[in-house]
Amino acid sequence: MITTQGLTKVYRSRGREVTALDGVDLHVREGEVFGVIGQSGAGKSSLIRCVNLLERPTRGTVTVDGVDLTALAGRGPRAGKELRAARSRIGMVFQHFNLLSSRTVQDNIELPLEILGKSGRERSAKALELLDLVGLADKARAYPAQLSGGQKQRVGIARALAGDPKVLLSDEATSALDPETTRSVLQLLRDLNRQLGLTVLLITHEMDVVKTVCDSAALMEHGRVVESGTVGELLAAPGSELAAALFPVGGEASGDDRTVVDVTFHGQTTTRPVISQLSRTYNIDISILGAAMDTVGGKQVGRMRMELPGRYEDNVVPIGFLREQGLQVDVHDGVPEGADAAPVLVKDGGSQ
Ligand SMILES: Nc1ncnc2c1ncn2[C@@H]1O[C@H](COP(=O)(O)OP(=O)(O)OP(=O)(O)O)[C@@H](O)[C@H]1O
Ligand SMILES: [Mg+2]
Repeated sequence: MITTQGLTKVYRSRGREVTALDGVDLHVREGEVFGVIGQSGAGKSSLIRCVNLLERPTRGTVTVDGVDLTALAGRGPRAGKELRAARSRIGMVFQHFNLLSSRTVQDNIELPLEILGKSGRERSAKALELLDLVGLADKARAYPAQLSGGQKQRVGIARALAGDPKVLLSDEATSALDPETTRSVLQLLRDLNRQLGLTVLLITHEMDVVKTVCDSAALMEHGRVVESGTVGELLAAPGSELAAALFPVGGEASGDDRTVVDVTFHGQTTTRPVISQLSRTYNIDISILGAAMDTVGGKQVGRMRMELPGRYEDNVVPIGFLREQGLQVDVHDGVPEGADAAPVLVKDGGSQ
């Protein structure tokens, strides 16, 4: 639904150049909620602004719903109308809501419809329908100053939906909200995604947001996408930073003569009693050092850090057993060179 190829953005100001995007290839499938995460300055906002051409990419292409927006933008002023039409099918939600304080809630939602030249009756019917959809049917005549942060963001979302977009872009839509309000706004985005088949590309720096609503995610660093995939794929990727950050597990080895492994459960493996089988089959005592389980996209997933008695050499067979059960196993340091395909995990995860 959204594809970027080699997307590059270089800002030039006062003789200085900043490369905010450095060849980003992103693919967001129709109907999914896709989260982009990364530290401040990684280029997340630049990416989202280039996706709807609010910002003109320096190089590369952006295709949304089969329309190459970069080609339209490149055709000069005469393509303006087509570009505006394509853009009206892309809704945008902002961190600070960007509502007009002098207009009522309903008038704020009608604004994009005014720009599209819709009649008063059409605008008002649509605005009221959208207010109902976001749970604010009784606030049509209120002014933004009379609303809570969560309610303002619901208005922001309703306004973003006014042009019947197929794609919703959201840049830190919940980072100005408290945790409980964040949850309810995320739930709303999830519901809209399901009910309307809306594709959602959301930017966040909170891992919890990814965990709660995203089907897929990408990690950005220094203008590049360094990891991306469905949550299941990320969890299955050896040494994935995103997976480690989504499910941070702590815990240190209790002595030198111990092997510490992180085991990732997803899909069917979550319900099988593999740990007790391991313990019984090899007659070993297993200590659980840390664990994080959660439901992602309706499926149970999680990680567990456990300690096996003995060094790595003594545990090759039990570790092989776990892998045969379809589990992702990352062994911590102490692994002899070349003995294990999984990289040494040094990251402790945590939100970015
Ligand atoms: N209009 C601009 N002019 C010049 N440089 C810019 C501009 N916008 C962004 N940058 C620079 O581009 C880089 C990426 O910025 P961007 O806003 O995309 O990061 P971000 O990942 O959204 O960060 P944050 O999490 O803080 O919002 C930064 O180094 C930033 O200073
Ligand atoms: Mg930003």
